[in-house]
Amino acid sequence: MKIVLLGRDGQVGRELTRTLPPLGRLVACGRAQADLERPDAVRTLLRREAPDVVVNAAAYTAVDRAESEPDAARRINAEAVGVMAEEVARLGGWLVHYSTDYVFDGTGDGGRRETDPTGPLNTYGATKLAGERLVADSGCRHLIFRTSWVYADHGANFLRTILALLGEREELSVVDDQIGAPTAAARIAAVSAVAIARLAAADRPPPGGLYHLAAAGATSWHGYARLIAATAAAAGRPLRVPPERIHAVPSSSRPQAARRPANSRLDTTRLQAAFGVTMPPWQDDVRATVLRLVAAERPGG
Ligand SMILES: NC(=O)c1ccc[n+]([C@@H]2O[C@H](COP(=O)([O-])OP(=O)(O)OC[C@H]3O[C@@H](n4cnc5c(N)ncnc54)[C@H](OP(=O)(O)O)[C@@H]3O)[C@@H](O)[C@H]2O)c1
Repeated sequence: MKIVLLGRDGQVGRELTRTLPPLGRLVACGRAQADLERPDAVRTLLRREAPDVVVNAAAYTAVDRAESEPDAARRINAEAVGVMAEEVARLGGWLVHYSTDYVFDGTGDGGRRETDPTGPLNTYGATKLAGERLVADSGCRHLIFRTSWVYADHGANFLRTILALLGEREELSVVDDQIGAPTAAARIAAVSAVAIARLAAADRPPPGGLYHLAAAGATSWHGYARLIAATAAAAGRPLRVPPERIHAVPSSSRPQAARRPANSRLDTTRLQAAFGVTMPPWQDDVRATVLRLVAAERPGG
């Protein structure tokens, strides 16, 4: 099996460069190999490589900046994805693509299912939803994994930001009225590899389409920050802010360019049934990541 990966330098992309090689020949591409702002570059790459599977982990992910750069966000998150889908349909392959909890409007307090109505509150969510629709409408065989609150040992993410701030600030305030599941990029990449292996191996591949892929359980950004602090403290990391001085505040006290959904819970029943995977509680991968990062800070770590 030949796999072209786009977005190899992002959080999920980097983890996919670890989980995909056992499945076949991997051609891992970054911005230099295919700039998604130039959909023709994507077309040229896919025609030259003619892969069996395209995995797209590239995206315009700057949620607030997207409000002032909607055209760039749309080109990368929708138009370029549409070109991938067209090319994959022509090749008769599979497209594996990632989307977001931000396609939903955040009402209610249950986990959203794949069939639930969407209603993005911001430009990023709207462009990601447009990308999903172009994939579905192209008729290409595909898997779209909607995930949430992604973090990794590398890259720009909430977990790494909080860990840094815990050593710098005296107090922290974090919003507690947005609820979701922090999901490790490594977990997303591992589940993606399980799913792609099934596509290749089975004479009756699992049904394509949309799948929600997120850790089990849910918390607020505030609860997430407190677990990061508690784990770091238990590992002996000196903190200027102990967990109890991380204060809960409402989103209304933190105006941001893009509105966020209050409820980002994703129901993963369909994913677990189709691919036989179990999503662990969100705390497991958060704790493991904090422990690795704290250990790496130590001399010789
Ligand atoms: N991050 C989250 O919290 C979150 C939540 C839900 C869903 N998702 C979805 O999960 C997927 C993976 O996200 P992530 O967190 O891994 O994102 P990320 O760390 O921000 O990485 C995105 C990657 O896309 C690349 N990229 C951006 N513009 C590009 C362009 N014009 N041409 C080529 N490459 C370009 C970036 O390249 P450079 O490295 O060169 O900048 C980067 O490597 C995305 O589909 C995202 O929408 C993410």
